[in-house]
Amino acid sequence: MGLGGYLPDEIIDEIRISNEIVGVISDYVRLNKQGRNFVGLCPFHNEKTPSFMVSQEKQIFRCFGCGEGGNVFSFIMKRENLNFPEAARVLAQRAGITIPEEDNPEESARLKEVEQAYKVNELAKDFFQYVLKKHDVAKDARSYLENRGIALETIDKFQIGFAPPSWDGLLQFLNKKGFSAAKLEELGLVLPRTKGTPGYYDRFRNRVIFPVGNVKGKIVGFGGRVLDDSLPKYLNSPETLLFNKSHLLYGMDKAADSIRQLDRVIIVEGYLDVITCHQAGITNVVASLGTAFTKEQGKLLLRYTREAVMAYDADAAGVKATMKGWQLLDDVGCRVKVVSIPNGKDPDEFIRRQGPDKFLELVNEKTLSLCDYKTDRAMEKFDIYTLEGKFKIASEVIPSIRNLSNEIEKDEAIMKLAKRLHLSPGAIKAEVDKNARDSRNNWGNRDKITGLRDNNNKFAVPGKAPKGEQDARSRAEESLLIMMLEDRDVLLTVKNAIGVNFSSRQEYLYIINLLNEMLEKELDYQPSALFDGIRDEPAAELLGSLMARDVPSENKTRFIQDCIKTIKEDELRKKREDLLSKMEEADKMRDQDLRNKLLLEYSKLI
Ligand code: GTP
Ligand code: MN
Repeated sequence: MGLGGYLPDEIIDEIRISNEIVGVISDYVRLNKQGRNFVGLCPFHNEKTPSFMVSQEKQIFRCFGCGEGGNVFSFIMKRENLNFPEAARVLAQRAGITIPEEDNPEESARLKEVEQAYKVNELAKDFFQYVLKKHDVAKDARSYLENRGIALETIDKFQIGFAPPSWDGLLQFLNKKGFSAAKLEELGLVLPRTKGTPGYYDRFRNRVIFPVGNVKGKIVGFGGRVLDDSLPKYLNSPETLLFNKSHLLYGMDKAADSIRQLDRVIIVEGYLDVITCHQAGITNVVASLGTAFTKEQGKLLLRYTREAVMAYDADAAGVKATMKGWQLLDDVGCRVKVVSIPNGKDPDEFIRRQGPDKFLELVNEKTLSLCDYKTDRAMEKFDIYTLEGKFKIASEVIPSIRNLSNEIEKDEAIMKLAKRLHLSPGAIKAEVDKNARDSRNNWGNRDKITGLRDNNNKFAVPGKAPKGEQDARSRAEESLLIMMLEDRDVLLTVKNAIGVNFSSRQEYLYIINLLNEMLEKELDYQPSALFDGIRDEPAAELLGSLMARDVPSENKTRFIQDCIKTIKEDELRKKREDLLSKMEEADKMRDQDLRNKLLLEYSKLI
């Protein structure tokens, strides 16, 4: 597989810096200076009057006639019909830069190792699959899966297998394929014997095997489940060259498209939860594999959506994991809701008993905010009719209220908790305000997403603007983004005022977060470099068109503030609309109490 294609980032940067775009394009197009830019006849379509523009400042080109655009790499790719590494080579040669892999044996050795590791995992997966399907020793495993309602189709789709009970089935198989026991040990497939004659034995024995894929579906490790109640119930691959549990989500490769389409992810705990959901046609589901949710997993999700629903088991461990995971997801910038599955069931069991529609109903209509979820849990634990009980419930929920990212949500949560505990909102608010200094309490802190850059990233089709014409909010977002692409300080200003997650358009967020990453990693603020991280056509297109634009403004500082204000006000307006519709509902249900409460909230917003 194409090892030759790989180029380290530093080299790409060096190549970029050494290939000034006006100089490069001048080899192909006669360019004339016009104002701040250079213009010429577009080399990508036939034209008589120049609509092809090159910006030296921004190091980009753009044709207003045919829409082609990009940085110096994209130009060579399109003009010479090359892929990225090939174009990089052409430019490297032009600038007299030596391409590394010819003289970097370490790097290419590492890549060979990675490739071999994938191959071993692939073979191991084939072996387990074969045993499950064809071998007598897998009879019990087959009926186990059948009893759990897992269809043959699903077994194929998830490449489920079975590790035979023997001590060295896999070891022998892979030995024959030419892989040493030491290599297999590195990959977590075998273990060294500790007693008797030296040697190795299979890590996975007599277990149903769930291969774990990365985003691209390449196998990076395995989980194995016992067929009975023995312990440990699951055995997973150890951390290896490929298997990094905290960066992985089970099912991601199969869920990615659907998460993007539905703009929402459902996060569950276990292998079987994912499998049952997918089998039932609910495909935007991934699992965090028993571990507490990590920041890296959150960032991975953010490539596809900001909307997350956590549907963890309702047992004590699940509740704890939910609370931790919620915080992490919130920190990276997701909007998180929680479902609490009735009667202590996990999603797998719930779907098998009640059907997928009932599960979707939970996920669509019965989601809770973290504060509500925590209140529910605390009310199960403590006696709400005693003062002490109330105090304990409040103290479990208040930290989460304190953490809420904006004041309106905070107010709402305070009112709700006060009502449920029959306490005055003032009392709760006083508690919330205590120690408020050391917690995150404004939008400005909701900006911790980094690490979104990924060459294989695709994202939702560039946003249709909200219905109808582009409204003031979208214009403000767009203007801010255009200015950020010119000027690092604009990004800083906006970030301090409203954070970097202010846009409701996924593709804007994506670009803003790439910019923010440059900022946070203190990289050279060079927006044209973003084209290299985006291979996705529509994304590059959007970036190109944004970078080619200027926001004309007499007073930029003022204009930026206006845009920020527009966005803030729009957030408020949405909140008000939401309250109004809730009030209508309360009317319908003749819930006077709720209505009054909503009205009070509403009046505060005006
Ligand atoms: P079933 O019990 O068969 O329904 O599996 P499940 O996937 O629902 O498992 P469960 O809810 O008990 O646990 C959730 C996830 O935590 C599992 O999918 C595993 O990834 C992980 N896990 C559970 N038990 C163990 C264990 O004993 N060891 C390890 N390493 N991981 C476990
Ligand atoms: Mn389960």
